[in-house]
Amino acid sequence: MFEMLERINERPEPFQFYTASDLWTDDHTSAQMLSYHLNDDIDLSSRNARFVNQSVEWIASRFNLGAGTKIADFGCGPGLYASRLAQRNADVTGIDFSKRSIQYAQEVAIKDGLAIHYVNENYLDFETDDRFHLIMMIMCDFCALSPIQRKNMLSKFYTILEPGGSVLLDVYSLTAFEQREEAATYETNLLDGFWSPDKYYGFLNTFKYEEEKVVLDKYTLIEASRTRTVYNWLQYFSPEALESEFVEVGFTIDKLYSDVTGSQFDMEKTELAVVAKKL
Ligand SMILES: C[S@@+](CC[C@H](N)C(=O)[O-])C[C@H]1O[C@@H](n2cnc3c(N)ncnc32)[C@H](O)[C@@H]1O
Repeated sequence: MFEMLERINERPEPFQFYTASDLWTDDHTSAQMLSYHLNDDIDLSSRNARFVNQSVEWIASRFNLGAGTKIADFGCGPGLYASRLAQRNADVTGIDFSKRSIQYAQEVAIKDGLAIHYVNENYLDFETDDRFHLIMMIMCDFCALSPIQRKNMLSKFYTILEPGGSVLLDVYSLTAFEQREEAATYETNLLDGFWSPDKYYGFLNTFKYEEEKVVLDKYTLIEASRTRTVYNWLQYFSPEALESEFVEVGFTIDKLYSDVTGSQFDMEKTELAVVAKKL
């Protein structure tokens, strides 16, 4: 028991384990994630419908969208952005490793007569000969990746962009980092049964890595027949840190915003968004 508690409370190295698929592709959690995505009123999994509509409106004018604009949406979920962009005649590819979300997205595309290319794959492994005018990664998914994963991802983006093409993505800011606190909690069926349909005991240990500007929510989930640990990492960014990751792989920074609706950049906001260009 003591050793078990020691393991539960152990602080790993930043980004030591990558368990994103346990959160997004597990049969039980992916069903709940999909219901959050599809709830128009909340900002869980996807942002609320008003925000998404405003964002697509802005993306369409900011990137001069028209027939033939090729867009890749990394971590597209159930296609909230992809389907709206395809309705504006963009040629959209959506990549997501959640089978449940991709199936839902495909059903919507068929129902609405939209020719969207959905790929059910881990985007870290995604390869293509296609070339795109715009690459998006929306709702701070970039923050869940380790420095090396982020570098590989941005290099991949650079390779698969047309010259003159852009990346649009959002991340959490240092203002958001300041609002996080270390904590250790324990609860029966932690998060109201989010992690399993069966009874479990859930421990949540939140670790802050001051130097690296990283936060880990470490979930230890103990069921009658299995024990799992899920590591939810978040990297928080200063504008300079974000810019330098893009510049390192060859991008030019076009502009910073506060979010992907094109709101003016503000250091006090909890998020920032970047448009970076391949010249
Ligand atoms: C926070 S949600 C955002 C969804 C969508 N971009 C939106 O804003 O509506 C993150 C999405 O990325 C997907 N995802 C996370 N890691 C992934 C990976 N390694 N490969 C593919 N998809 C991933 C999840 O399944 C989820 O659909």
